[in-house]
Amino acid sequence: TKVMEVFEGIPLPVALFSKENLHFASKFQFQDTDILLVSYPKSGTHWVQQILSLMLNKEDLQNQNNIPTFTRAPLLENFSFQKEWIKIPEPRLLTTHLPANFFSNKLKNSKVRVVFLVRNPKDVLVSSYHFHNFSKFLPDFNSFDDFFHHFIEGKVCYGSWFNHTKSSLGVWHELNSFLITYEDLSQLSRTWAIFLGQKLEPDDMENILHYSSFSSMSQNDCLNYSSSIDLFDHSKGKFFRRGVTGNWKEHFSPEQNDKFNNIYQEELGDLNFKFDWSLN
Ligand code: A3P
Repeated sequence: TKVMEVFEGIPLPVALFSKENLHFASKFQFQDTDILLVSYPKSGTHWVQQILSLMLNKEDLQNQNNIPTFTRAPLLENFSFQKEWIKIPEPRLLTTHLPANFFSNKLKNSKVRVVFLVRNPKDVLVSSYHFHNFSKFLPDFNSFDDFFHHFIEGKVCYGSWFNHTKSSLGVWHELNSFLITYEDLSQLSRTWAIFLGQKLEPDDMENILHYSSFSSMSQNDCLNYSSSIDLFDHSKGKFFRRGVTGNWKEHFSPEQNDKFNNIYQEELGDLNFKFDWSLN
């Protein structure tokens, strides 16, 4: 049976996405107050959704019985969330894994705040490998090497990391945007608050750091997908897997590493953009 189908050049699992999903996303009417998070999957999306939700709902933080979650940051291209739109209070927090060029023309003439999230692609690859095996809606791979080759050729869920990242880097400076990396996430909370127009007291900051920490999020049953038995095979992994940087070093062989570095150089070498992660 077919697990993935290519929509406008992007492979997506047929169990979760249809042509109508992408149609809905491409026709989406943004409002100037919207905040759009753009990321390639496995870059730390849920982490950022949680931080942004906490910042926007800081009054909930005082009520310890009602710990806010990112449930109000739906994935734009996922049809099943469409009926949720009406319920979302402003500013709406939206997420997409589609590449930025899907939306950039619309966003250029708007005040929509766009958060671009990027992560060391070697760690994304490893995280994505485990996620493909953990998910019931994505194909399994025989070996890490098998997945490695699919990833560098862009034949995985949401396609090429390189194209996705080039798309973001190509437009982010033309938009009302903020570019962050997974590697830098914990440092940036205060700067983000300013971007979001939120005034946060030191107590709020402490709460936000606490409720967005890996240990808190992975134990939060509203966040960790432990009850999603239709979507995930919990004998094969965890949604909150490791939450560290540099885990690729435990997976990549020297040959795979050389190969990845060459492709990275070919694809992004000319861009003259320095990220704060290390590929060594
Ligand atoms: P690993 O598989 O490397 O552990 P996404 O949300 O885009 O699917 O990204 C998932 C990745 O972010 C996973 O990476 C996950 O463990 C990590 N992650 C999620 N929440 C995190 C947090 N609070 N702190 C650090 N890493 C986090």
